[in-house]
Amino acid sequence: MKTQSSEDLQLEAAYKSVSDTYRGTGIDIHKACKKQREEGGPVYEGDFVTQFGVPTNAGLQQGTRPTFTIFDYKDVMSVMRDNKTYTSGFIAEGLGAFFDGLIILAMDGEQHRQVRSLLQPAFMPESINKWRPEIELVMRRDFLEPLAAKKKADIMEFGLFFPIRVMYALMGFPTNDPEKYKKYAAWALAMVGGNQIDPTKIEEARRQSGIAVKALYDSILEVVQERRASDEYKDDLIGRLITAEFEGHTLDDHEIVTFVRSLLPAAGETTTRTLSCVLTMLFNTSGLLDRVRDDRALIPKLIDETVRYEPMGTFRTREASKDTEIQGVKIPKGSFVQSMIVSANRDETVFENGHEFNIDRKMKPSFGFGFGAHMCIGQFVAKLEMNCAINAMFDLLPNLRLDPDYPAPVIEGAQLRGCSSIHVLWD
Ligand code: HEM
Repeated sequence: MKTQSSEDLQLEAAYKSVSDTYRGTGIDIHKACKKQREEGGPVYEGDFVTQFGVPTNAGLQQGTRPTFTIFDYKDVMSVMRDNKTYTSGFIAEGLGAFFDGLIILAMDGEQHRQVRSLLQPAFMPESINKWRPEIELVMRRDFLEPLAAKKKADIMEFGLFFPIRVMYALMGFPTNDPEKYKKYAAWALAMVGGNQIDPTKIEEARRQSGIAVKALYDSILEVVQERRASDEYKDDLIGRLITAEFEGHTLDDHEIVTFVRSLLPAAGETTTRTLSCVLTMLFNTSGLLDRVRDDRALIPKLIDETVRYEPMGTFRTREASKDTEIQGVKIPKGSFVQSMIVSANRDETVFENGHEFNIDRKMKPSFGFGFGAHMCIGQFVAKLEMNCAINAMFDLLPNLRLDPDYPAPVIEGAQLRGCSSIHVLWD
């Protein structure tokens, strides 16, 4: 078999490979969760996700730890909120080891609080709203204007690259060579692709991951070193990390590089997948396209309701740090607890007609961006990017609509959800 060099790795292929790994068997996960809530009870003793044929932390450890799966809104909220009892450190045991302990997702307690405090200001709305003009410019000039004359397209062709292009620029990578971003993003996806359940694929996927991790390290280090050597301060993520100080601690180059690298997989394809879900709901819901086109103030509601109804990540896992109990079921210390986000987000006891997509519903917290201490730090950036993208599409692609020559878009995937192509026409 020809092995792919890190240079050859294409963004589209890397994205497809991740989608294939996390798509699973095709069993309808929403239906399965509803059935469990109605007939099976609030706690499933075991790895509920196994049936969908996607890699889980429990599965990768081959049943060596007791595993419990929860479905109800209130239980998911309690687990995500209580990061002392339900910890994330185990994430660093597998691929996290590549990140030298500097992966924020896998930090607990005081270390997490400190790192989060250091990074958080760069991601708050008051910081990121300043980037709106640049995001709009990139979206319009680099993506939609070159497309406008074609009058038809698969909108996900730019949906894959657009969040990456925006995010890397905001992080502080030089903007003069966007092609490089594609390569970096492909590497970032290859890191994620290292989790495989098929034993014949594990070795090759891990090898690819290893190459990608190293290649990304070297590329980011170059950028950080150049930035440190220049006296000019730029208000982007790398600039902020170079000057960041929290309780007397500053970051050295190795720490900055490792951090930035661990952010990359979180920052690109999550937005692509979510944008694909948002557009699918926009096009497939009767009357919605015209309503939102005519009233752009509805875009945030469209995004929020999609993140509730079709979260791109279907579950999150935590480890019990002590013996505990959920709904009368004893959870021994060391167990995995899988919170089914996809279930809690439609729990009928909290969301009236939870299985109905309704952008006019009264919004309540849901879990598509997580909840509690680890809640997505990049959610405001992602929402801003999607908002700019949808606005620009309406402005530059008149009478945008689905292309009747293609099947209507479908959201699929058991672990990572999304829609791979959305064929549209405009006048
Ligand atoms: C629509 C797109 C996105 C979705 C659906 C999403 C989803 C999530 C979720 C569910 C979590 C919680 C993980 C957990 O509790 O274990 C999370 C955490 C995180 N996300 Fe996002 N994310 C998105 C975009 C972004 C972007 C653009 C960034 C930019 C840097 C980002 C960076 C992070 C980071 C660093 C964390 C870890 C935070 C922590 O551990 O304290 N995400 N994201």
